[in-house]
Amino acid sequence: MIMAKHFIFLGAPGVGKGTQAQRLAQLMDLPHVSTGDMLRASVQSGRETGLRAAAVMESGALVGDEIIVRIVEERLLLEDASDGVIFDGFPRTIHQAHALDNLLAAHGDEIGAVLHLDLDDEEIVGRLSGRRVCSKCGAIYHIRYHAPTVYGLCDICGGGLQQRDDDQPAVIRKRLAVYQAETAPLIAYYHDRPAYHLVSGEGEVDDVFSRIVKAVGVAG
Ligand code: AP5
Repeated sequence: MIMAKHFIFLGAPGVGKGTQAQRLAQLMDLPHVSTGDMLRASVQSGRETGLRAAAVMESGALVGDEIIVRIVEERLLLEDASDGVIFDGFPRTIHQAHALDNLLAAHGDEIGAVLHLDLDDEEIVGRLSGRRVCSKCGAIYHIRYHAPTVYGLCDICGGGLQQRDDDQPAVIRKRLAVYQAETAPLIAYYHDRPAYHLVSGEGEVDDVFSRIVKAVGVAG
């Protein structure tokens, strides 16, 4: 018996994984599990894991597999994950993908869909350099494509909007190179599975979301 179905967003930094994962989580009533958000929360709280991760994240490199697998493992044990989660930014290395497969096999869980979002690098750089994130609820904005109603404030909770430290041009370039070296091999890892879907990340947020909903096969 399948216990839970988990959904994976795969794609380069800035392709729109967080934006789309938040929407899919809402539609499917599943938790949005972003390893980036979890690490940033850990940095804010001053916990040891966060302190060790902070410098790595600011440089644009990947945090160690061991830390990531442990936080995901702990997250999947929480009650709200019992029907499945929407992963955003995990897995990101072949090691993490193997660890996830082992974890799912041990629990009788499976992957509902691997949603590989694709977009060209020029568009990605434009999206990342204009991104602003709510410091309170994590909602994602863009100064041109998705501006808040009141400058600098979140439409949802009124929290202040911030630019992420790793959205500086030099770090964006590094993150894209790290994606090619460490994460792009996951495309071949998942490509031949029936759950794999290549989804264009081009166009409006609503258009991309319609493609995702169609791929997943849920009513939008
Ligand atoms: P993480 O937070 O996961 O960052 P990322 O993968 O680099 O992805 P981003 O959050 O930058 O982009 P996104 O694809 O979510 O795009 P978004 O929807 O925001 O990771 C940060 C760091 O943490 C890593 O570098 C690493 O150090 C560490 N880390 C995290 N997970 C790890 C792991 N598993 N292993 C090891 N280390 C890990 O959109 C971007 C912008 O575009 C926004 O402004 C948005 O409003 C706009 N936008 C979105 N869609 C559209 C659209 N269709 N049209 C116009 N604008 C759009």
